[in-house]
Amino acid sequence: MSNNIDWKNLSFGYIKTDVNVRSYYRNGKWGQIEATSSEEITMHMAATCLHYGQAAFEGMKAFMGKDGKIRLFRWRENWKRLASSSRGILMAEVPEDIFKEAIDRVVLENKHFIPPYGTGGSLYIRPLLIGTGARVGVSPADEYLFMVFVTPVGPYFKEGFKPVKMQLVRDYDRAAPLGTGNIKVGGNYAASLRAGERAKGEGFAAPIFLEAKEKKYIDEAGPANFYGIKNNTYVTPESASILPSITNMSLRTLAEDLGLKVERRHITVEELATFEEAGACGTAAVISPIGEIHDRDTGDIYKISKDGNPGPWSEKLFKTLQGIQYGEVEDKFNWCDIVE
Ligand code: PLP
Ligand code: COI
Repeated sequence: MSNNIDWKNLSFGYIKTDVNVRSYYRNGKWGQIEATSSEEITMHMAATCLHYGQAAFEGMKAFMGKDGKIRLFRWRENWKRLASSSRGILMAEVPEDIFKEAIDRVVLENKHFIPPYGTGGSLYIRPLLIGTGARVGVSPADEYLFMVFVTPVGPYFKEGFKPVKMQLVRDYDRAAPLGTGNIKVGGNYAASLRAGERAKGEGFAAPIFLEAKEKKYIDEAGPANFYGIKNNTYVTPESASILPSITNMSLRTLAEDLGLKVERRHITVEELATFEEAGACGTAAVISPIGEIHDRDTGDIYKISKDGNPGPWSEKLFKTLQGIQYGEVEDKFNWCDIVE
């Protein structure tokens, strides 16, 4: 039960909730959504998700608002991205109505696991789509499972909204230039594990990956997109191998609205020295300000936060975004849907 959850000290971990929901794709059709309290999945040992990586997921959040309403942030964008991931690795696409019904149901049935307003927590929603059909030769499955579980979470990086140190690496790539970096498939995360664990072991929050072909440009900041701010301009990488972050897309809109210019373009490693602020953004990370970036090969240290605090623009962006999500700031772009 949720009674003994310490809402104010949630980390980004798994806590069992009452139910998760599932729909199976068989004989070319999606079945009815079923709710279950089981945390287990049973599948054939030759399922394509286990051997050939037919697995994609999403990450989204529901928030308990100031007015006691449950707000779901930009769910349609997550649905579209899951569809794009499905096309990318030849999985059956989940129809929009099944996606939404599954999300609404899992959120409502686990309502008492949504962290109360004012605690800073949220309900993380994890849709998952996997190939369950058996194959031995390399080919796509004919059966799929779409499921959604939720879990209450706090900040992704233990620092919360405090600047973190990140480590720029060249000896590992997260994604190939024409690979799967732009979709949210499990393989990308497997590919990021070695750099990620090493970075943590060496005292950093996450690795910063470079675009793999030329190794000149910033690609991703661990499990999040990178942005830098200077001269009243919000700059974020343009790259075919990064995940199109819904948070970043929202921050670009907010940045413009707050009076910043927005640029999507290559960011060279050298340019890091010129930023007044930088951050990593994503559903889990929200905004994690980046205080320092250490180049693991050259030893160069890019000290972005001079005083150890988040910069003023990052703070404004963070407050506006979270304000919209918690129903404190007018949702003028219609990003939130009330779940009831
Ligand atoms: N980049 C990677 C590699 C991610 O895993 C995520 C998380 O979803 C993001 C960026 C941020 O995307 P979003 O803002 O849509 O959560
Ligand atoms: C998210 O931000 O939702 C993510 O998926 C990042 C990470 C937990 C994989």
